[in-house]
Amino acid sequence: MKIWGGVRLEGEVWLPPAKNSVLPILAASLLCDGPVRLRQTPRLTDVENSLALLRAAGMRTAWEGEDLLLAPGRAGKSALPDGPVRAMRSSVFYLAPMLHRMGEVRMTMPGGCRLGPRPIDIHLEGLACMGAAAEWKGEQLTLSAPRGLYGAEFSLRLPSVGATETLMMAAVKAKGITVLRGAAREPEVVDLARFLMAAGAHICGAGTSTIWIQGRERLSGAAFRPVTDRIVAATVLAAAAATGGSVTLRRCVPEHLEPVVEVLTRGGCRIRREGPAALTLAAPARLAGAGWVTAGAYPAFPTDAAPVLAAAFLTAEGPSYFEDTVFEHRFGCAAGFSALGGRAKVRGRLLELAPAERLQGAAVSAADLRGGAALAVAALQAQGESTIAQAGYIRRGYGDLAALLRSLGARAEWEGKTERENEGKRRTKPEKYFSEAGGISLP
Ligand code: EPU
Repeated sequence: MKIWGGVRLEGEVWLPPAKNSVLPILAASLLCDGPVRLRQTPRLTDVENSLALLRAAGMRTAWEGEDLLLAPGRAGKSALPDGPVRAMRSSVFYLAPMLHRMGEVRMTMPGGCRLGPRPIDIHLEGLACMGAAAEWKGEQLTLSAPRGLYGAEFSLRLPSVGATETLMMAAVKAKGITVLRGAAREPEVVDLARFLMAAGAHICGAGTSTIWIQGRERLSGAAFRPVTDRIVAATVLAAAAATGGSVTLRRCVPEHLEPVVEVLTRGGCRIRREGPAALTLAAPARLAGAGWVTAGAYPAFPTDAAPVLAAAFLTAEGPSYFEDTVFEHRFGCAAGFSALGGRAKVRGRLLELAPAERLQGAAVSAADLRGGAALAVAALQAQGESTIAQAGYIRRGYGDLAALLRSLGARAEWEGKTERENEGKRRTKPEKYFSEAGGISLP
């Protein structure tokens, strides 16, 4: 991605549905006997990889404009293809639905951003409590439950978002009642529960640390609009704050953004709610330092927002300290910050930022998804041209970040695309999957 910095961002953004809501819901569609319509699904590489897994598992998938349509098809295979599994952490979400659908699932270790060790032991321990047996051959995992899954009481040793979602998906069709203690409380966990309930599941307590689930034999389909993306929201706010700009977020859930708003307010931004689903930010010409920010499990400051907000504070007047208690290597973007002239130092899980007078455009490289977006936010403040290599990471979580920034007045584009493509004037092609879907009748 190429960015020419120094432009004050201004405008309005309608937030898309959250990646981390959409991805588990896509996997959960395997639990449904009826068709599913996911409204306004963002076209991310992780969504494309999820569709590849769904098709391997026998689902029919089709785009209808911005909606994604999913319906049960032929009997699929219990072995999931290595490519998409290795491409994202979210392949772990297929364990429980595949156990229900096929009685067995085989896959390699899920990939995803390298943010430090990301084991799947809590997912597997919980599934074992519910009757699944795991067998490893090197990196290849076979999980089976020939007699089905049954309800259990399980305490998560830490509030893992993914493990809470895996175990919810296991429990909704298990025999009997499941109680999950120490569950994650993120809005995306609540959203998965809302989707499953729309399909007929019995779930109580999602959003608190104890979740009760009564298993049901069948789930129907559902038409569902996932919650909007609080990390895209944080990225837009950070980009406006970094450039002394002003922005209005539409379709947002202000409660989900409280810790992000608090940190930007410390920096001197004026942030106001505009009704139930909008927020406006007006930034000062130069931010004050953020002070100490600790990222942790919800409702604490979100780990995914730490690098993007840190980027906005590179040229602040005072120091900022971003500590991440969730992942060991959250700040892979620090090398890029320094290359752009930032005064960034990583000590273990802590990113220290000393005030830099100005940033200068440079060639940098994304190390992971949020780190890549953080480099874009940093480049917006830099004088001259910056190039972000490995920007494919960014496409995993943002439909088109360059277009989003351009809509606020930034000069940003994807290298190697024609001017027309960068302006987003592409003609919509006939849908690739629609004909394969063979006429799905959907809600
Ligand atoms: N953990 C374990 N064992 C497990 C599961 C997790 O030790 O079985 C540890 C992890 O190693 C990590 C901590 O628990 O240190 C938290 O991990 P969690 O399971 O909560 O994260 P996740 O489910 O892998 C989701 C998001 C991440 C987001 C985290 C934390 C999805 C697809 N991913 O990951 O999003 O950072 O929760 O909120 O929902 C991103 O979008 O860029 C991203 C990385």
